[in-house]
Amino acid sequence: MVDLLLGLQWGDEGKGKIVDVLTKDYDIIARFQGGPNAGHTLEFNGIKHVLHTIPSGIFHKNAINIVGNGVVIDPVIFKKELDNLEKFNLDIATKLFISRKAHLILPTHRLLDAASETAKGKAKIGSTLKGIGPTYMDKTGRNGMRVGDLEFDNWKDKYRSLANKHEGMIAYYNVDIQYDLKELEDEFCEGIEALKKLKFIDSEQYIFDAMANGKKILAEGAQGSLLDIDFGTYPFVTSSNTTAAGACTGLGVAPGKIGRVLGIFKAYTTRVGSGPFPTELFDNDGQTMGRVGNEFGATTGRPRRCGWLDLVALKYAVRINGVTDLMMMKADVLSGFESIKICTAYTYKGKKVEHLPYNIEGNNVVPVYTELKGWSQDLTEMTKANELPPALNAYIAFLEKQLEVPIKIVSVGPDRLQTIHR
Ligand code: GDP
Ligand code: IMO
Ligand code: MG
Repeated sequence: MVDLLLGLQWGDEGKGKIVDVLTKDYDIIARFQGGPNAGHTLEFNGIKHVLHTIPSGIFHKNAINIVGNGVVIDPVIFKKELDNLEKFNLDIATKLFISRKAHLILPTHRLLDAASETAKGKAKIGSTLKGIGPTYMDKTGRNGMRVGDLEFDNWKDKYRSLANKHEGMIAYYNVDIQYDLKELEDEFCEGIEALKKLKFIDSEQYIFDAMANGKKILAEGAQGSLLDIDFGTYPFVTSSNTTAAGACTGLGVAPGKIGRVLGIFKAYTTRVGSGPFPTELFDNDGQTMGRVGNEFGATTGRPRRCGWLDLVALKYAVRINGVTDLMMMKADVLSGFESIKICTAYTYKGKKVEHLPYNIEGNNVVPVYTELKGWSQDLTEMTKANELPPALNAYIAFLEKQLEVPIKIVSVGPDRLQTIHR
């Protein structure tokens, strides 16, 4: 069986931390979608490390890590990730395998991302500018380059014809994008050489065999359900299926082989980039969440927008993913608020609704809040569920009742050890 771990909000829920915490119970950790737009932070033994493409099980001796076919890989960023891991002596070549079917992000994909965003002006998506959208467009347009192509001598011809096409497209946008393609290509080729030192596999076959041998597999998602290309706040989304179905296509795992679906959410909500966010706060409370939660993007450093927990959106994500276990992150950040608000419905076109309307824009959706008592205790030293303050337990109980799924982990700090199992 394959268990899934997915973000239920707009990303940055703390997936990296929890995958790292859970890896001791698994033989294989496999990323199934997204690319270096992701930034997954791990903290342990005084080390803080951010991963972008490499799965978050990489620091554990016991686990094999797989970059699955659904992922898009930028060899330039990938090489940097490998270089940054060198000091840890992890013997990467024996424990990190790459799917031949994963698509490659070309330098021109990044340029196209920038050109597209510039052309959109105020309507821009707020992309991480890592070339994600253009690469998935080439994938579905059946023009993409895949990791397996690098095993053939003619890969540079393939590269050239695709890059030439991209240059024409960049010119079409007619925006001021400065670049030196030769320089970018040299860097790209260096990245390819680094990538080629790793083992390329038919990852679906590897996973079939592992399952047949009783291995335990955890599929690691990137981004969050509200950034899903189909079910997110389109067009302010990413270009892959971040939801549970994405693990089936992104690894070649049949639906019947999915075991537990671990859904991870922050005790409040954040979003980075543009797009609707009904519970967004522009007041002191929002600033406090941002400051205490250190809410800056792990990939781009941009400040994250903050707001109260949106239960309407969370319920939707729980249903779409079939979440069996919930994990609530950053509970420590809410310590000190006199009261905690939870959005349980919206007022939309003058009526109360309990689902996500098709078009959330501007102020057409107004959150309806339920208020619970806050708590003031510092949670960051707590290690057991029976230490949690009664008001936090009441918050958890309220959420479990509404979501009809148990909250199995409460995270009270960024470190591996600041994790309470219930
Ligand atoms: P991911 O993309 O889902 O892996 O999440 P990110 O790493 O982008 O963002 C989560 C941030 O919150 C990181 O800086 C983590 O170190 C931090 N973090 C994770 N869990 C907790 C927690 O329980 N409390 C606090 N204060 N920080 C946390
Ligand atoms: P992790 O895995 C938060 C957001 C971007 C932008 C939109 C589209 O760390 O949770 P893209 O670069 O994909 O074209 O950007 O999606 N976004 C993320 N936000 N966490 C992420 O990943 C994100 N990956 C993309 O900010 O709004
Ligand atoms: Mg992140």
